[in-house]
Amino acid sequence: MTDTPEVKEHFDLKEHNTIGVSAKARYFASVSTADELRQLLLDPKYKLLPKLMLGGGSNILFANDFEGLVIHLKIKGREVVEETGDHVHWKLGSGENWHQVVLGAIENDWAGIENLSLIPGSVGAAPIQNIGAYGVELEQVFHSLEALDLNTGIIKTFEHKECKFGYRDSAFKNDLKGKYVITSVTLKLSKHPKVNTSYRALSDHLNEQGIEEPTIRQVSNAVIEIRQSKLPDPKEIGNTGSFFKNPVISEEEFGRLKNKHPDVPNYPDKKGVKVPAAWLIDQCGWKGERIGDAGVHKKQALVLVNYGSATGAEIIELAEKIRRSVHNKFGVVLTPEVNIV
Ligand code: EPU
Repeated sequence: MTDTPEVKEHFDLKEHNTIGVSAKARYFASVSTADELRQLLLDPKYKLLPKLMLGGGSNILFANDFEGLVIHLKIKGREVVEETGDHVHWKLGSGENWHQVVLGAIENDWAGIENLSLIPGSVGAAPIQNIGAYGVELEQVFHSLEALDLNTGIIKTFEHKECKFGYRDSAFKNDLKGKYVITSVTLKLSKHPKVNTSYRALSDHLNEQGIEEPTIRQVSNAVIEIRQSKLPDPKEIGNTGSFFKNPVISEEEFGRLKNKHPDVPNYPDKKGVKVPAAWLIDQCGWKGERIGDAGVHKKQALVLVNYGSATGAEIIELAEKIRRSVHNKFGVVLTPEVNIV
């Protein structure tokens, strides 16, 4: 038996969300192992309360206090569980820091996640929203994950297909939401690095540096430089990365939009045409705007920031204004990418 983790009451979550808003958790505990997690979940005192699992807190916005139990997942561990001449299967505890894992992979010369450098947050959160950047999405290197059933405490393995990955989406945001806690993620990384520099901003950056055949470390460094040049560091200015998803609209809708706005950037997508939300928001004049301490980042219109003491409600109010003006000007509906609790 492990000791029951310490549970704090009326705990301020400000240090546990990267946009830095204050919100109180009725109960709060950190867990370092699956056993501690199970013990807490099955404790009769908390059994019937709503629960919220928190990793790095980099994709969450607290609109209100949380009248239940917040569990901070700190489950660590990195283990090669299978290795061939071509691949490694690397099993990672869900509480590992994502960027540190990327650096570890590069250190070992294992390829596949270098384009996902510097994404804030934990390993366990990565599959939930199928993190993606610079032409790569987590699902391309995902092998399987383990998750604990909130009702029974039993650990189940989920294969790729069962996770139903989509653009910033998975089954854990939909039919499996609130039913499981991810305890580990196994990635399949390549021992024969083949870099992906298809994303325009990335290939331009490497070209400018005169790098023709980049190593995975050079790709990682380039991604880090690009991200640092336009995305605010949450340690300096609170933010959750992209606040909205890039909307995917039908060919017809896109035709109408392009008639009125011939310069609209666009990318082909399985379900229609993807239009950058940052461009739509920028065109409405929001970039660099500020209402109190809630603002739109000066260098990337898709990122909402907290200059200090903005509340969740104030950030949401700003987001609503942005949504309305984009809808009025372009007829396109923006949906949040961040989880609002
Ligand atoms: N743009 C503007 N104004 C701006 C910023 C961008 O008009 O203020 C235009 C750019 O000119 C470009 C387009 O918008 O034509 C796309 O911009 P960018 O390449 O910066 O990427 P994004 O679509 O805004 C997405 C992801 C980011 C990811 C980058 C790089 C989403 C919601 N966001 O941003 O992910 O890092 O691509 O791959 O898909 C995140 O999810 O939190 C995140 C930061």
